[in-house]
This record gives sequence, C-alpha cells and structure tokens, in this order.
Amino acid sequence: MLSSKNRNQPIGVFDSGLGGLTVVKALMRRLPQEDIIYFGDTARVPYGTKSRESIIRFSKENVALLLKRQVKMIVVACNSSSSHALAALRETFDVPIIGVIEPGCRAAVKATKNKKVGIIATPATINSYAYPQEIARLDSSIKVLGQACPLFVPLIEEGWSAKMVTLTIAQEYLKKMRQSQIDTLILGCTHYPLLKTTLRKVLGVKVKLVDSAEEVVHDVRAVLTNKAAGYAGSRKGTVQFLVSDEPAHFQKLARRFLGFDIQDVERCHV
Ligand code: DGL
Repeated sequence: MLSSKNRNQPIGVFDSGLGGLTVVKALMRRLPQEDIIYFGDTARVPYGTKSRESIIRFSKENVALLLKRQVKMIVVACNSSSSHALAALRETFDVPIIGVIEPGCRAAVKATKNKKVGIIATPATINSYAYPQEIARLDSSIKVLGQACPLFVPLIEEGWSAKMVTLTIAQEYLKKMRQSQIDTLILGCTHYPLLKTTLRKVLGVKVKLVDSAEEVVHDVRAVLTNKAAGYAGSRKGTVQFLVSDEPAHFQKLARRFLGFDIQDVERCHV
C-alpha cells in the first residue's frame, strides 16, 4: 500500500521506446521534486503493431523490472500498453498504476463543445476501442471518430515532423476528421505531441488538441497527494534512463522528446 513511507522513492514510467519521454518531460516540469526512473523497451518497440497478448506480456515484464528498482508507483506512458494491458497490470501488481487513456478522455470530454471527438493513435490502440469505450462511459452522447496513423511514429523518430511529406500524410489521415467537423482531437500516442504544429496546419487552430502526456500528470499528482506519498522537500529530482537495447540510438533521439541531452542511459534485460 502506497503511503507517506514511500515519499522518497522514485516514480516508475515505462514506454515501448522513446515516446514516453513526452510524459517524463511533463512530469519533470510539473512535479520537479520527484525522482523518476524511465524504462524504454527499445528491444521490442514498436508495440503499436503487436498483438494484445504480446503487449500484455511485455507490459507485465516492464512493471516487474521497475518494481525491482523500488518505484512507488507506475505510469504507463505508452498508449498501446495502456489500451490493452492496464487492467491486467492492475490485477497483477499491488502498486498504483496510472495509464494515459482515462486522463486523455476526461480532458477531451471537458473540451468538446460540439460533442465530436477524434482520436489518432497506433493500430493497436485504435483496434482496442479503449478510447471510445472510456469516452462513452463518461458521456455517451459524444460521437467518437478513430484513425490509426501507423506512419507517424517512424516519421517523428526520423525527425521529419515538420516536413512536407508528413503534412501530406497528415492531410490524408485526417480527411474524415475534417469532414466530420470534430472540435477536439486526442493525441493517442506518445509521439504525437511532436506533431502539434503539423496537425494544427491540417485541422486549423480552433480544434483543441488533447495531449495525454500533459493530462496524466494530474492523475499522478492526485495519487501522490491522496496517499501523502509525494516527495516532501523542494529539491530538483533526478531522472534515470533504462533501455532494453543498445543505448546510443535512444540517447541520440532523446533530445527531440525532452528538449535537452541526456548523459547516462543504462542497458538492462527484461
Ligand atoms: N508508445 C507507443 C504508443 O503510445 C508508440 C510507439 C509504438 O508503437 O510502440 O502507442
């Protein structure tokens, strides 16, 4: 049971690879005093094209790895994991586990005025129906339109977020969203916050973009406050980076997601 005894332990965050660093960035900004341990499963990325069984198995192994490092709670930064594995993780492990789906849906339900919400995500997340189900639970009168965008992750990792080719692909993916006149779009993948400028060009500035990475911080803060388990002082917390494959690639691309360079990345085995 999480309590004030756990105050000084780190928060564990995992993702299939790099993208979850958008969540780390949000946590560092809003809960700067907390220590964070991030695990990127770079040996098995991407999850977004994998089966539910594999995603659940990988996610359980990732949580077990983080618990060995004495984390006080887990943030599942990966949307594909959150969609398929969150319930299984909560059944298996006795620590608070926060996913990105519920916070993203809550923010979208609050934001929409015309009750038309779009979701863009990996094929795994779209095929799980986790987002439409959660939105229906919160407000069944909202119309939800989902679109898998499998080309976005490689384009973003290539550093092509602002290139013409990405704009053209985004126009194609978002055609139906534009026709349906959604007023809110959930960025249902760790990488998509890096595409905000391109998405605004396609959808116009009036469509509200919901960034799950930002929204999840509210839930982390709520758990820590409720359990009096947040770090009590005002120091600057540390962030430790773990990966399951060769660290150099992760280290090189991390800046794109975090906005600063990272020095030490530890390779470990799940
Ligand atoms: N982290 C994944 C997600 O948010 C995107 C990358 C992948 O497919 O593994 O769904």
